[in-house]
Amino acid sequence: MKAIIASGKGGPDSLSIGEWPKPKPSSYDVLVKVEASAINRADTLQREGKYPVPEGESPILGLEMSGTIVACGDKVTKWHVGDQVCGLLGGGGHAEFAIIHEDMAMTIPTGWSMEEAAAMPEVFLTAYQSLKWICQLKKGETVLIHAGASGVGTAAIQLAKAIGAKVLVTASAEKHDICLQLGAELAIDYKKEDFQEAVKGYSKGRGVDVVVDFIAGPYLQQNINSLAIDGRMVLLAFLGGPKVDHLNLAALLMKRLQINGSTLRSRSQVYKKELTQDFKKFAWPLFESGQLKVVLDKVYNWKNIPDAHRRMEANISMGKIVLKVN
Ligand SMILES: NC(=O)c1ccc[n+]([C@@H]2O[C@H](COP(=O)([O-])OP(=O)(O)OC[C@H]3O[C@@H](n4cnc5c(N)ncnc54)[C@H](OP(=O)(O)O)[C@@H]3O)[C@@H](O)[C@H]2O)c1
Repeated sequence: MKAIIASGKGGPDSLSIGEWPKPKPSSYDVLVKVEASAINRADTLQREGKYPVPEGESPILGLEMSGTIVACGDKVTKWHVGDQVCGLLGGGGHAEFAIIHEDMAMTIPTGWSMEEAAAMPEVFLTAYQSLKWICQLKKGETVLIHAGASGVGTAAIQLAKAIGAKVLVTASAEKHDICLQLGAELAIDYKKEDFQEAVKGYSKGRGVDVVVDFIAGPYLQQNINSLAIDGRMVLLAFLGGPKVDHLNLAALLMKRLQINGSTLRSRSQVYKKELTQDFKKFAWPLFESGQLKVVLDKVYNWKNIPDAHRRMEANISMGKIVLKVN
């Protein structure tokens, strides 16, 4: 089959379409003819040799896909050949064919394009896991979501609103409109404003109950300072670097804070299956009603994958960058 092949550990131009063995479904897997996949930062890091492929996963890039089932393992009961599905993968989405466990495959919401379906699993499952499972965000609480216009950020804003929380975001100024349209009440231009002061002003000194962070080192002190009593934070990436120069931890005790870190890709199959099933119960009625939607930034034909990676690394995208596979 055709697949995106990386020639070494290099820049975007090291990626091109090449040949790779077609995967074989085991008993509980379905084989999907892929129509679309989407780009994630894990792909750009893996391309550079900075993200080791978890054991047992395909080394081909692509953590999500949508397409049509063309074969089922001998014990599959939930799907049939011809069903259209999307889902989260440990790798292998940027290829003509991908395999996925039957419990990880999801139906495509009514009226969605294959491009929208391919752009949903990674960011929505990450955001759902972060808000509901890790930080236990509740109705009436307030959440600060950094990189609000990112793929994960745009999903998290909508999910937090659906939970009944108030949402504050940080983002570049030109990305504020999309965050506000999705339901954020305050968008902070972190390049010009101190977000800690903006949070303090908005919350009248109380702080926020939950922080979803991707920046790490440079934000940790301000995040701690921005959390309210019994606040929870989840760290999902270190876009600003993993190290902290100076840190005062006193507030961690005084405010009884919980600081969590997580990567979805390295979780066990059992965890990911349970997360997928729980997410489906919560999100499908909201996808069907239009309350939750995927924010598409740009769709590329997969032969132009270097441009798609360049766009993500330039930090100019809003929502998801999608690859049309054909
Ligand atoms: N741990 C997990 O399970 C998990 C799962 C999925 C994704 N992730 C990670 O989460 C992050 C977001 O993913 P994504 O796909 O949503 O990203 P994305 O759509 O590419 O958006 C990232 C945005 O972050 C902002 N940003 C980048 N560097 C920054 C910095 N140094 N300081 C402040 N803001 C910065 C930029 O927006 P502005 O213009 O607004 O600054 C950029 O567009 C990635 O690092 C990804 O690897 C983690």
